[in-house]
Amino acid sequence: MSSIARIGVLTGGGDAPGLNAVIRAVVKSAYNNGIESLGVEDSFDGLLEHSRCRTMTPKDVRGIMRLGGTVLGTINTGNPFSGIVETSEGQRAYADRVVEMFHRLGLGALVVIGGDGTLAIAHQFAERGVPIVGVPKTIDNDIVGTTNCFGFDTAVAFATDAIDRLHTTAEAHRRIIVVEVMGRYAGWIALHAGVAGGADAILIPEIPFRLDAVVERLRERDKWGAHFSIVVVAEGAFPAGGRLSLIEEATAGHVERLGGVGARVAQQLQALTGKETRSVVLGHLQRGGAPTSFDRVLATRFGAKAIDLVRQGEFGTMVAFDPPDIIARPLAEVVGKTKTVPPDSDLLLTAKALGITFG
Ligand code: F6P
Repeated sequence: MSSIARIGVLTGGGDAPGLNAVIRAVVKSAYNNGIESLGVEDSFDGLLEHSRCRTMTPKDVRGIMRLGGTVLGTINTGNPFSGIVETSEGQRAYADRVVEMFHRLGLGALVVIGGDGTLAIAHQFAERGVPIVGVPKTIDNDIVGTTNCFGFDTAVAFATDAIDRLHTTAEAHRRIIVVEVMGRYAGWIALHAGVAGGADAILIPEIPFRLDAVVERLRERDKWGAHFSIVVVAEGAFPAGGRLSLIEEATAGHVERLGGVGARVAQQLQALTGKETRSVVLGHLQRGGAPTSFDRVLATRFGAKAIDLVRQGEFGTMVAFDPPDIIARPLAEVVGKTKTVPPDSDLLLTAKALGITFG
């Protein structure tokens, strides 16, 4: 067991329901093991100023498990070194300052809760000798090495509820409704919510789509008297031979903003089928609100495991869900990769067996 007296904890990247549950578990487990927790505000940026680091005790995390967002604040610019640090010299100076402040604050370890971008930066700090434990977070569920990230179950539950509601209005008006969900590189939310909500077509980034296949499926439904349909589209889905739909191009330090594929698919389906079609974007509603009980439990287990790893001195690692266990994986094995839906995914094949088309 290591004799660490003080750790830092921070959240980076887009928020996900369950962040506060992880923070709570980290603070409580650390406290119960005689370790002081310093909450660092706004991702790595907070480490640069003493005033943005605060001691947290179990009293400070009381009642936060059920809250969405993060009490520590976060930054999601696509550049975890914050949007203002755009040159490589600027980034090096920033990183040096983070390492210096880590030591000046008397920290023995840093628990970094974040998605692929934040964990990649955490890995760089780990390689520079900063004792890091990562906790994987993204509603997209596309981090390699863990079956689930917290936040995914909540996002799927929300999207499923939305699809249920859209079903009734689609049927009443004999319309096609296209539902755009999040999923930048991976179609996990679309696949799970599409199957759970009984969608007729699911379009995901892993399978460039052809709308004729979707039209054929919708016509078949018409033949057997189902004059309405639900099409679920991941924001990162794109047509075969076509391009991603963007709201904003990438700029230095910022990844491109995706959006618009749902509206485009709806417009084209209306033209191809002659049926009235509407589109709905679920957007950030999927990231807000209270985490499901599954996500609360997972987040709590992740937070407690992170402190176990700190105590055992197992740094440069990420906690991961390998059902039924929570395990540690080397950060080096998981960063820079994306867990996409494989073509032989059991759920994908099940959906196809049920007649759902992927375009
Ligand atoms: O990475 C999670 C995610 O929800 C993506 O699906 C989406 O593209 C992105 O975040 C949007 O994040 P923001 O609006 O914070 O830039």
